[in-house]
Amino acid sequence: MISQPHPQDDGLWYKDAVVYQLHVKSFFDSNDDGVGDLPGLISKLDYIANLGVDTIWLLPFYPSPRRDDGYDIADYRGVHPDYGTVADVRKLIRAAHARGLRVITELVVNHTSDQHPWFQRARTSRPGSAARNFYVWSDNDKAYAGTRVIFCDTEKSNWTWDPVANAYFWHRFYSHQPDLNYDNPQVLKEVLAVMRHWLDMGVDGLRLDAVPYLVEREGTNNENLPETHQVLKRIRAVIDSEYPGRLLLAEANQWPEDAQEYFGNGDECHMSFHFPLMPRMYMAIAQEDRFPITDIIRQTPDIPATCQWAIFLRNHDELTLEMVTSRERDYLWSVYAADPRARINLGIRRRLAPLLERDRRRVELMNSLLLSMPGTPVLYYGDELGMGDNVHLGDRDGVRTPMQWSPDRNGGFSRADPERLPLPVLMGPLYGYEAVNVEAQQRDPHSLLNWTRRMLAQRRQTHAFGRGTLRFIQAGNRKILAYLRQWRDTTILCVANLSNAAQPVELPLQAFNGRVPVEMLGGTPFPAIGELPYLLTLPPYGFYWMDLSAEAAPPGWHASAPERMPELVTLVLRGHANAVLTDGSRQTLETEVLPEYLARQRWFPGATPPARVSLAYATPFGAGRAESSGAGGAEYYWA
Ligand code: BGC
Repeated sequence: MISQPHPQDDGLWYKDAVVYQLHVKSFFDSNDDGVGDLPGLISKLDYIANLGVDTIWLLPFYPSPRRDDGYDIADYRGVHPDYGTVADVRKLIRAAHARGLRVITELVVNHTSDQHPWFQRARTSRPGSAARNFYVWSDNDKAYAGTRVIFCDTEKSNWTWDPVANAYFWHRFYSHQPDLNYDNPQVLKEVLAVMRHWLDMGVDGLRLDAVPYLVEREGTNNENLPETHQVLKRIRAVIDSEYPGRLLLAEANQWPEDAQEYFGNGDECHMSFHFPLMPRMYMAIAQEDRFPITDIIRQTPDIPATCQWAIFLRNHDELTLEMVTSRERDYLWSVYAADPRARINLGIRRRLAPLLERDRRRVELMNSLLLSMPGTPVLYYGDELGMGDNVHLGDRDGVRTPMQWSPDRNGGFSRADPERLPLPVLMGPLYGYEAVNVEAQQRDPHSLLNWTRRMLAQRRQTHAFGRGTLRFIQAGNRKILAYLRQWRDTTILCVANLSNAAQPVELPLQAFNGRVPVEMLGGTPFPAIGELPYLLTLPPYGFYWMDLSAEAAPPGWHASAPERMPELVTLVLRGHANAVLTDGSRQTLETEVLPEYLARQRWFPGATPPARVSLAYATPFGAGRAESSGAGGAEYYWA
């Protein structure tokens, strides 16, 4: 079984990482006020480390009116008092590092809350002044008309009238989140200062929220503009010169060719989310066809060697369907969000387990894809348990409910009275905390939690998943997705049955003739690969990760089929050799001897014996090759 040494410390730690995304508010409440907090999170770090991830991504914990769950920041340098203090953040980082966990936090670069002092100052400042120009203003709401509205369920325009400023301000998200103006050099200066503030505290990486929208230009759609990339290059330059080894992760919900631009030439972000892959994984299992996945990966350009995609199945937002065609969106909505309450904006506000109807096989299959596709996997807290959601809550709150730790009050999340919790704990018979919780799943060797741990432990054995190349294998059966992940001398074969029924597949693996596939989760060697297509059968929604080992021995019970000894046949030809054409021996030759003989000849096309052989004529051997018995004049020939 493979177990590879860590590549030399090349500063590319994020390529081998597995990220666990969580909300401090919803993780664990240490002071029983009903709200999760930083000391609570610190007390649960062992749980996270034992899960087998190595990086935590924290949703915003800064002072905020929380009208966009903290992405509406009112003070970039502080901590929301409900969650703790800046000193607690320091403690958290130290405690995480002590357990080998890295910490990524949010740098919300596109907008602030309208409560931020910069905005309060801007709206009362003289038009045209530097303070006013921290944000984007207009006398009318007609500018930048070609720009889409992202939160289309709530907002009708990207402009909102501010009666104090007597002008419209620009916002790509909620109307209480004015966009910062990067045409004002002061803005980037301030943002860099905020960045240094958190990096100095020891955070290992920053997720750059909503990066495609930093700069606006008339006549464009105001996404991915070259000026925006210039801003990112300046941010990256600071990382490279002052904080080498730290990470920038772009949130750019774009098509692959636009998203990859956030890597620049290796001089913008180290990582970027692969948004279009995610809905296509759901599409592939709904349609029982690998095409959506192979197609989007083929459309994905190569990226600089130091860069990496971040891949995910779910996160704190809706399952976004922005990066699919409208026909695909309708299809995904009808399959995964038949209940209109599950839909929001251009997406679906559901967690992984309910999306897959608590079908453990599909949950495992999707996780196996997540953990073996090219990129760094990001797991969303609670999905390792199969937690559910609550579509009756507003906005995307239904996927942000408290972590379910035990069957105790509030799911063990808090000892406060339940009505004090900002979001209610799930209580239903299928997904409620009595049915789904950490304590029970820790005791159950077959739980999803323990399965996830085993998968993560297995993934850590090799760098092929994080760093290797990917090559699809074109098998005839399209319900099977098969691909090779290759890194240095390791090759892993991943095979996934996307369908609801058992499937056979023949894989053209002749290039690996002689290698022994070792199924990685169970360590079982399979028969060696030969010159023929390799036959596998998979149960419904089954998958295999197989190390194509050059060293492992094939299973003891499997001997390659012994060469069939040519059978000795006695032909009795009465009279002349031509009797072979008329005698009963002809049938023996045509049906038993020659088909097998022909199939073994090098020059014969194909390895299977011909269906029919017929003798056209016979030439007698020369004198002395035949023996005459004398009796009855019969001659005996040996074939
Ligand atoms: C975050 C969302 C947030 C939005 C606006 C996004 O990219 O992931 O949760 O609502 O930014 O702040």
